Amino acid sequence: MTPSLFDPVQLGDLYLANRIVMAPLTRSRAGTGDAPTALNAEYYAQRASAGLIIAEGTQPSANGKGYCRTPGIYTPAQIDGWKRVTDDVHAAGGKIVLQIMHCGRISSRLNKEEGARTVAPSAIRAKGQIYTDEAGMVDFDEPHALTTGEVQDVIDEYRAAAAAAIKAGFDGVELHAASGYLPMQFLSTGSNLRTDIYGGTAENRCRFVIQTLRAMATEIGSGRVGIRICPGNPLHDIQDADPVDTYSTLLKAASCLNLAYVHLIRLSDIGFDALALCRENFAGSLILNESLNEESASRHLAAGSAEAVSFGRFYISNPDLVARFRVGAALARFDRSTLYTPGPQGYTDYPTFNL
Ligand SMILES: Cc1cc2nc3c(=O)[nH]c(=O)nc-3n(C[C@H](O)[C@H](O)[C@H](O)COP(=O)(O)O)c2cc1C
Repeated sequence: MTPSLFDPVQLGDLYLANRIVMAPLTRSRAGTGDAPTALNAEYYAQRASAGLIIAEGTQPSANGKGYCRTPGIYTPAQIDGWKRVTDDVHAAGGKIVLQIMHCGRISSRLNKEEGARTVAPSAIRAKGQIYTDEAGMVDFDEPHALTTGEVQDVIDEYRAAAAAAIKAGFDGVELHAASGYLPMQFLSTGSNLRTDIYGGTAENRCRFVIQTLRAMATEIGSGRVGIRICPGNPLHDIQDADPVDTYSTLLKAASCLNLAYVHLIRLSDIGFDALALCRENFAGSLILNESLNEESASRHLAAGSAEAVSFGRFYISNPDLVARFRVGAALARFDRSTLYTPGPQGYTDYPTFNL
C-alpha cells in the first residue's frame, strides 16, 4: 500500500499518528529570561494534530542565542515553561520534539544576556546584519574562535540541552545543522579554517556535528535524536568548496548512530540533488521539507522519497492543517508583519476552518 499523508509512521522511537510534520518556526515570543509562556503553550497545543511538532530553534546556552526573544533550554524557568508547552501538546494528543539551535556567529551581543559571547569555529565575521530590539539592524558580531577545549564545552551544552528537553517533557530533540548556524559553520570550508581535529578534511569538519549527535544520543537515546540539514544553502554567508563531499561524509557517519531521522531542507539549483544524496548515504528515516503543498508532499510519500514531510509557513496561519488537507479546505495566508512581534496577534489568533 502506498503511504499517504494520513498514515502513521515510526521514526526511531517516535511514533507519529500521521506523516504531516510542523517544521520549526522561530516566532520570537519567549517571555522573561527566555522562558516559554502560557501563550506559547496555547500556540503549540492548537497545532497538536500534526503527526509531529518540531518546536522552534532554542538556544542550549546563553552563548548560543542569536536573535531577539528566542527561548532557551538551560535554566529551571525555561524548563518549567517548556513543561507547560509539552503537557498541553500531549494532552491534545500530539508529539513534540525541540529543535536545539546554537547560532554561533549569526548573532549580535545586543540580543544576548550580560556576559554571553559570540563564538564560532573561526574568527570570521559573517557578512550581513541582524535585527536587535535595542538598535535595529546591526552587523553580525566578530566571533571568538573556540579553542579545542571550548569545543568540548559547547558539545556538553548540547548534551545538557537534550537532557533538559527530556526533563521538560519533549519526545526528543532535533539538532539544527542548517541555515548557517554553528554546526553548519563547522561543516563548511568558508567558515571553518581550523587546523585542529575539527577543521580541514570533510571528516574533521563533520566531527563537531557527529560528536554532538553522539553526546545527545548517549544522554537521551539515539531514537529520540534527529538532525536538520540543508546542503548547498549559502544563507548567512556560508560557502563550502564541495558540499557533496561534506554531506556524503556526514550522512555516512550519521548512519551509524541509529538516529530518529534526518530532516532535509531540499533546495533546487544547487548543482546536485540533496534528496538523492540523502537516500544514497543515509540509512534511516527522512523528513522532507521543500516548499511542499498537499499534492507534491503526497507524491513524495507515495514514491517513497521520504517517510514524512514537513510544512513551515502553512503552519503559521493553519493550526488545523491536517484537517484542512483531509477535507480539501482552503488554506489561510499568514500576515508577514506579525511573524516576530510579541503577543497573540498573528500567533494564536488564526482560526480553525470550521469555526
Ligand atoms: C517565520 C519563520 C521562522 C523559521 N524558523 C526556523 C527555525 O527556528 N528553525 C529552522 O530550522 N527553520 C526555520 N524556518 C524554516 C522553516 O522551518 C521551513 O524550512 C521553511 O519555511 C520552508 O518550508 P515551507 O515552504 O513549508 O514554509 C523558519 C521559517 C519561517 C518562515
